[in-house]
Amino acid sequence: SPLHDIAVSKGKQYFGVAVDSNELANATYKVLLDDRHLWGQMTPGNKMKWDATEPSRNTFTYSDADALVVWAQGSGKEIRGHTLVWHNQLPSWLTNGGFNNATLVSILQNHVTNLVTHFSGKVKTWDVVNEIFEEDGSWRSSVFYNTIGEYFVDIAFRAAAAADPNVGLAANDYNLDYGGSKVTAYVNLVNRLKSRGVKITQIGSQSHLIVGSMPSYSTLVSNYNAFVATGVDVAITELDIRMTLPVTDALLAQQRKDYNTIIRACMAVPRCIGMTVWAYSDYYSWIPSVFSGEGAALPFDDQLKPKPAFYGIVDGL
Ligand code: XIL
Repeated sequence: SPLHDIAVSKGKQYFGVAVDSNELANATYKVLLDDRHLWGQMTPGNKMKWDATEPSRNTFTYSDADALVVWAQGSGKEIRGHTLVWHNQLPSWLTNGGFNNATLVSILQNHVTNLVTHFSGKVKTWDVVNEIFEEDGSWRSSVFYNTIGEYFVDIAFRAAAAADPNVGLAANDYNLDYGGSKVTAYVNLVNRLKSRGVKITQIGSQSHLIVGSMPSYSTLVSNYNAFVATGVDVAITELDIRMTLPVTDALLAQQRKDYNTIIRACMAVPRCIGMTVWAYSDYYSWIPSVFSGEGAALPFDDQLKPKPAFYGIVDGL
């Protein structure tokens, strides 16, 4: 079933997939990846992050990201830039640099300006900031927040908008699915940014979820509507729904329901503009390396066969 084509026929902008460079070298995996009817959007899993793009100060390396962009453009996929400012996967020159406020502001502006300019006309929307709040809605400790304070967000969004006035500008985070303080923190942030004249166009909900521990359909819809009420779009940006291994038929059946629930929630909200899975097959999922004993989070198994979850998506679109 052509997920992207179905999503578009139902009014969405895309159904997409995260991709990393090594996956393009896997000819078997690439068959489904190349399918423009299945995936109409791609997010680089790692190659646009700070450590990959500015490994030493003011030296920018784009060859891996450029190769992903060329491939995506050739296979009918719009591109999400991921990510300009994040506390993880930073180069050590930055984390260990001991930079003062003014220097870090200029480093931040230089990085954002360079990336957004380089990918101008290619990236449709940038994750400008990623994971800036804790679960209770407080600011996450990071070199940016600790040195600059809240205004690092304004600085990053302003630099991105100046470098490409046409690009979409998102804040992206996980655990926005359950409602509560973290959702409120983003609603309040969007309102503050807008009141300061800072352009933000989208909230990205990563949606790294757990089989059998899903938020309800109505909670998901009301979170999306809370973001939309501030005047931004919403996207599901890194969807996967993991389980405790080993895989059982019961867990696969529950996973099908859980995928179906979140896809239906996005479909119910006109300004939920698209959905992206964080790789398509369990073979390339990040989950087992980070969540010990968990995995099987994606709609295709490690043999690249569609799982019940895939049909949960199809039925939800
Ligand atoms: C992950 C990648 O998938 C892994 O390959 C890498 O080792 C770590 O980062 N939230 C994000 C993504 O915003 O950038 C993360 O991607 C997964 C969690």
